[in-house]
Amino acid sequence: MKKVAVIGAGTMGNGIAHVFAQSGFTVSLIDVSQQQLDKAVATIGKNFDRQVAKGSITEEAKAAALKNITTFTTLEEGVREAELVVEAATENVDLKLSIFQQMDAHAPQGCILATNTSSISITKIAAVTSRPELVIGMHFMNPVPVMKLVEIINGYATSAAVTTTIVELSKQLGKVPCVVNDYPGFIANRILMPMINEAIYSLFEGVAGVEEIDTVMKLGMAHPMGPLQLADFIGLDVCLSILHVLHDGFGNPKYAPCPLLVNMVMAKKLGVKTGEGFYTYTPGSKDLVVSAGFRK
Ligand code: CAA
Repeated sequence: MKKVAVIGAGTMGNGIAHVFAQSGFTVSLIDVSQQQLDKAVATIGKNFDRQVAKGSITEEAKAAALKNITTFTTLEEGVREAELVVEAATENVDLKLSIFQQMDAHAPQGCILATNTSSISITKIAAVTSRPELVIGMHFMNPVPVMKLVEIINGYATSAAVTTTIVELSKQLGKVPCVVNDYPGFIANRILMPMINEAIYSLFEGVAGVEEIDTVMKLGMAHPMGPLQLADFIGLDVCLSILHVLHDGFGNPKYAPCPLLVNMVMAKKLGVKTGEGFYTYTPGSKDLVVSAGFRK
């Protein structure tokens, strides 16, 4: 396999394009907005610069990888020659279903259709295509160039041969694949989101402050980020929508999102991407400053 298309040029899409391009694949990066595509290519360039500065890749390897990426504003053109399409659009069911119908209509016969969804059912997505056996979940973690895991999710109809292909492909990208089955939240978010929700409940109930909660988990459990900082990093809207998927999918009240999380999303305090969540963020600064509302 040499030709890959990536749909969506946001954080995940640009990270996925980055790792495929670095591993020698030709990548068609597709988004409706040329501005978003230009921003994504600039971000990929900056992320390669970090790797060059660390000596993990050469300037020549960076140039070669960037040359592997071509941008497209129409899906039809971008997927025309793809052997694998990885969809990394916004986490919205209707949008994903519509994109998969288009992918199915325009990608070559035999092309594998993967989704980077963090929690939407692979089986549901596959069912809107004429090739459900070729549809699979390929869930990368943010930041994609750094995080080793690819959670591979078998839908109800995914063929064993497709799973094997995607496992081998993930290894080619230098990643560690983990194959799981298609139930709400898969494994990553079924375990991660209740932890984040519990951290938010602990804050909501006044058990401890933002810094204390994060410090306990960072220093006590050796997590690189505390759960509240991680929630800001992922996006509070994304956390909320995954909790809804768990809550609706299992019908179990233990997954009910904390009212504080719901309020923060309504107030558009979504974390790093809006400049404020549990912490406030200033571009160019790595300082962690607790948001005004949560200061003692
Ligand atoms: N591209 C390339 N390299 C990057 C990068 C990027 N986007 N972001 C960071 N890096 C590199 C840095 O260059 C640095 O490299 P070296 O180790 O070679 O020095 C390394 O990553 C560490 O980066 P920093 O020094 O800037 O910062 P840090 O030490 O604070 O690490 C972090 C940042 C890697 C994000 C770390 O805090 C971390 O691992 N956080 C947890 C991330 C996590 O849990 N991700 C999963 C989220 S859940 C998800 O994605 C799925 C979902 O469905 C919700």
